[in-house]
Amino acid sequence: MMSIMKPTRNLLFALCSMLVLGFLYYSSGKLHLHVWGQKPQPEAETVVSVGRVVGSVFDKQGFLMKLDGKLPPELEYKYGNLSEGACKPGYVAAKMTSIYPKFVKPASMFLDLNFKRLKNVNNYLPPFGFKTQENIIEVILSATKDYGLSPELNSLPCRRCVIVGNGGILSNKSLGSRIDEYDIIVRLNEAPVSGFDKDVGSKTTMRITYPEGAIQNPSRYEKDSLFVFSAFKPQDFRWLRQMIFKDNQRGVDGFWKSVAHQVPREPSEMRILNPFFIQEASFRFIGLPHNNGLMGKGNIPTLGAVAITMALHNCDEVAVAGFGYDMSTPHAPLHYYEKVKMSAIKESWTHNISKEKEFLRKLVKAGVITDLTNGILAPPGV
Ligand SMILES: *[C@@H]1O[C@H](CO)[C@@H](O)[C@H](O)[C@H]1NC(C)=O
Ligand SMILES: *[C@@H]1O[C@H](CO)[C@@H](O)[C@H](O)[C@H]1NC(C)=O
Ligand SMILES: *[C@@H]1O[C@H](CO)[C@@H](O)[C@H](O)[C@H]1NC(C)=O
Repeated sequence: MMSIMKPTRNLLFALCSMLVLGFLYYSSGKLHLHVWGQKPQPEAETVVSVGRVVGSVFDKQGFLMKLDGKLPPELEYKYGNLSEGACKPGYVAAKMTSIYPKFVKPASMFLDLNFKRLKNVNNYLPPFGFKTQENIIEVILSATKDYGLSPELNSLPCRRCVIVGNGGILSNKSLGSRIDEYDIIVRLNEAPVSGFDKDVGSKTTMRITYPEGAIQNPSRYEKDSLFVFSAFKPQDFRWLRQMIFKDNQRGVDGFWKSVAHQVPREPSEMRILNPFFIQEASFRFIGLPHNNGLMGKGNIPTLGAVAITMALHNCDEVAVAGFGYDMSTPHAPLHYYEKVKMSAIKESWTHNISKEKEFLRKLVKAGVITDLTNGILAPPGV
């Protein structure tokens, strides 16, 4: 164990400083200019010309190269009679499959007691799977006892989800009431709601977080939301066990910044996010280096991309807000809730910002997801 832990320590350390910036690139004007300035030819276009030579209609990741928002005829027929604005059952999976034929919808949001049977993840170490963590996960799951959404959400014939990113692009757009209309409202890490409701809404169905990103002040946890845990490294599961069993006597170490010492949630309000979404986002959708299935340079998707991947499998319609960068407000803050400006952005060791953005652009361009703040397709810079 030690021999594994030691070399990864450096990686983890680097991971940390990176994850701190979380969505940095979503609002990253500077980095964006930098990356795109170096490579005036966007990667997608290079692939297109290669594709033409070999006559392929798909890019390296398996996405259709010619993307538009039009519905395939069979969907046109299926949804043609729905009234304007009605939720379209099965829309996201159908549209995703039409641009990415390898898409296989079933993938549960959270781990349950049958988790060891999940073939895609049982052979990968965190963050791409749970190998080596089976025992602790079993202990955690036998305490939480709940493994799904509320019965009300489960019984909806059509579920609309919104992933609220943390980008400053959310500021002053008064999208709060629009966000609150969604059935499932997903927030990430410590992004606050109170005091920002006008722009980001007031409801939270679930908050996806890792230890370093979790809200530290117990009074800031909103009621009635699920605490959804996304593990990036093995010690993350130990932290979760401590939070569940309220065992804050033991010290917590192995983290790159101070972490919450308590999470004011009942075990039944806690879930473990299926690590398949990290794996699928990284290796399949974004095309980050496989690195023998281990965490390595630039192969960890941001939590935002992970949440969107989860929603593709588990929602009927998906919207996002607070992702990307709006050129019309270049002085906007990096996050909607703090004063740090875009200029705080640095190149990331763990994430691959430009590659990840290409993936999100495909989803928006094809109309798989709706971008409420229009930051994902915004031009990279002037
Ligand atoms: C839509 O309405 C038309 C005309 O009423 C009907 O012929 C068609 O079968 C309907 N399509 C679906 C998918 O229900
Ligand atoms: C991101 O991906 C591109 C293209 O594969 C690569 O050239 C670049 O080095 C990667 N960046 C990081 C931070 O890994
Ligand atoms: C939002 O509006 C407030 C009040 O008008 C202003 O002080 C602030 O700078 C604006 N924020 C952004 C990011 O535009």
